[in-house]
Amino acid sequence: MGGDITLRGAELVLPTGVIDGDIAIRDGRIVAIGHVDQPVGEIVDARGLTVLPGVIDPQVHFREPGAEHKEDLESGGRAAAAGGVTAFLEMPNTRPPTIDAAAVADKIARATGRSRAHFGFFLGATPDNVAETAAASGVPGIKIFMGSSTGTLLVHEQDALERHFAAARVPLVVHAEDELRLRARSGLYPGVDDPGLHPIIRDPQTALIATRRAVDLAVRHQKRLHVLHLSSADEVAFLRDRPDDGLVTTETLPQYLWLDASWYARLGTHLQMNPPVRDLRHQRALWAGLLDGTIQCIATDHAPHTLDEKAQPYGKAPSGMPGVELSVPLMLHAVHDGRCSIRHVARWMSEAPARIYGLVGKGRLALGADGDLTVVDRRVSRSVRADALQSRAGWSPFEGWTLRGWPVMTVLLGRPVFRDGAFADGVFGEPLRFDPPARCPRQPGAAT
Ligand code: DOR
Repeated sequence: MGGDITLRGAELVLPTGVIDGDIAIRDGRIVAIGHVDQPVGEIVDARGLTVLPGVIDPQVHFREPGAEHKEDLESGGRAAAAGGVTAFLEMPNTRPPTIDAAAVADKIARATGRSRAHFGFFLGATPDNVAETAAASGVPGIKIFMGSSTGTLLVHEQDALERHFAAARVPLVVHAEDELRLRARSGLYPGVDDPGLHPIIRDPQTALIATRRAVDLAVRHQKRLHVLHLSSADEVAFLRDRPDDGLVTTETLPQYLWLDASWYARLGTHLQMNPPVRDLRHQRALWAGLLDGTIQCIATDHAPHTLDEKAQPYGKAPSGMPGVELSVPLMLHAVHDGRCSIRHVARWMSEAPARIYGLVGKGRLALGADGDLTVVDRRVSRSVRADALQSRAGWSPFEGWTLRGWPVMTVLLGRPVFRDGAFADGVFGEPLRFDPPARCPRQPGAAT
């Protein structure tokens, strides 16, 4: 059920460029852009503010069912909305894992009426659930952990991978780290307790081998592949150099764009995630990959673990860090810093995720599109404080960073869900609908 609202005098980040103007939403759909003669619903004076198409986070872990002490669909949805994120795609490594249609339906039922952002749930692959992945519908894709990470999901044997790729009718999304190399390299460092070794154990080759293998599978089976959380210069170079057949897309994360290996000394296991945060050479390559279109979009891999869990020594501490709530300010700060444009932010954080997964109605400020808006104030500077965040994780690797540019209002289908620090009564997200394209070619060049 959509609402009516008109925002006046904003900076509007349209697919074709940035304009100053008004935007009107009626019954949840965008009905006017530019100069609006006949406002509908509440009229918001948005002078000085910027309106982005609702930001979509295409990779989060919200831990429900099974680890609700870290996060659940209510707290994770709140964190998303407070961070200006209007929709999220959630990962299957819950307890139990999301490996059949019933588990997906269960998550949709749990999110309905509780999540403050729109939602979609990946179906997880196991060595023997090909019948489920072949029949998958109503999901953004099939998630394959090619290397072990948090949880029990893992498919690394060639025959099982071949069967999933052969059968899939929705995009395959991969955690690309090679399990055998990962095991061999962990064996070289028994009992180490230095988290600084994490990117050396899970080295760039570990990632590159798996990414190459997944791309080979996608090409042979002519299936859409999305490589999750790209972390290395080596993978950027490999993907850039291959022909653009529209089969392979990828994403990277604000953690990789803002943090680097020098931070292990300060953050220890809090910086530990899979694939790892690497040195500056990789960070620079990821920025270059985004700017030239090799990398299409930004996710957060929001992976909440509690402070107690993270306080364990390296080897015992779980991998992952929270992020869904700070991706918008971190990327707005990048705009302020001159690293990218506000058009890039709209492209990487809304238009591209919607295009890759075929999110019906989402990802564009355009007539007839869904009225999901991320309204931000690019002038506001504020410091990150964990106690002001919604996520149950209770900490951030960016604690104390002063960022310029923060969300001020998050609109779901024409209804503000979060505004000036408070949630509106009775506004919740809806299930996303998926119509993924058979091909998703790169969009090279600057987004102006
Ligand atoms: O660091 C990570 N944490 N990487 C993953 O792939 C999973 C995630 C989690 O669920 O904790």
